[in-house]
Amino acid sequence: MSDLVILKLGGSVITDKGADCRVNRIALNSIATTIANAPISGLIIVHGAGSCGHPEAKRYRLDKGAVAGQTEGITVTHRIVSALNAEVVSALREVGVPALGVHPLHVCIADKGRLIAFENRHLQEMLALGMVPVIHGDVVMDLSHGACIVSGDQLVRYLAVALKCTRVGLATDVPGVLDGERVVPEITPRTVDALHIGNSSHTDVTGGMKGKIDELLGLAAAGSGADIFEVSRLGDFLAGKDHGGTKVRGG
Ligand code: IPE
Repeated sequence: MSDLVILKLGGSVITDKGADCRVNRIALNSIATTIANAPISGLIIVHGAGSCGHPEAKRYRLDKGAVAGQTEGITVTHRIVSALNAEVVSALREVGVPALGVHPLHVCIADKGRLIAFENRHLQEMLALGMVPVIHGDVVMDLSHGACIVSGDQLVRYLAVALKCTRVGLATDVPGVLDGERVVPEITPRTVDALHIGNSSHTDVTGGMKGKIDELLGLAAAGSGADIFEVSRLGDFLAGKDHGGTKVRGG
């Protein structure tokens, strides 16, 4: 595969984060059309949960794990993010993108909240057939905590390394990483500590922008940069043009 892009769609761009699980169909359709028209050869999409998963994960305290007899939250949260995933896949298929949903709960294992294995040979076969796997932040069984939440950003980091992706992009509802009003053009391990990074006011069990940057700096340390940009600039990112956002690099 010459060009393999991983694209993360933040939960805040595909759902209305202020409401109880409301899918933003207008945004989703526009994203799907942009992807359908993009000049790319290989694509994996990872999406977040937004209002379809974060509130449930918080209500059932899945960030603290799960114990026998109290497993309802695992099912409830997985079902709601899976339903969101089905909507994302449908929107893409409607405009001709050969998308197929893949659920981390079924193919991943975590320990202490971190992904330790992700069976991805089937993703490589899907990509070889020209398909677009659509993966999502999910509940994953955890060897120490019973269960945990694995964010889309953690999945991106893992998969970008495992599949040797050429480009990694995160589409968000803000123009990039903001330090006050200013978009930070580049973040490296050397510059990150001097930044004042704000956080989302919505329920977020996976660390918001700070969690995202930590994952991406980990990815940069493994040799792969990542770009964070506003979803309105998705076409520019996919075309390899300037997107006005933030580049996270190894420094
Ligand atoms: C969260 O995924 C998954 C669940 C809460 C089940 P993300 O952390 O990637 O979601 P967003 O992008 O912040 O909404």
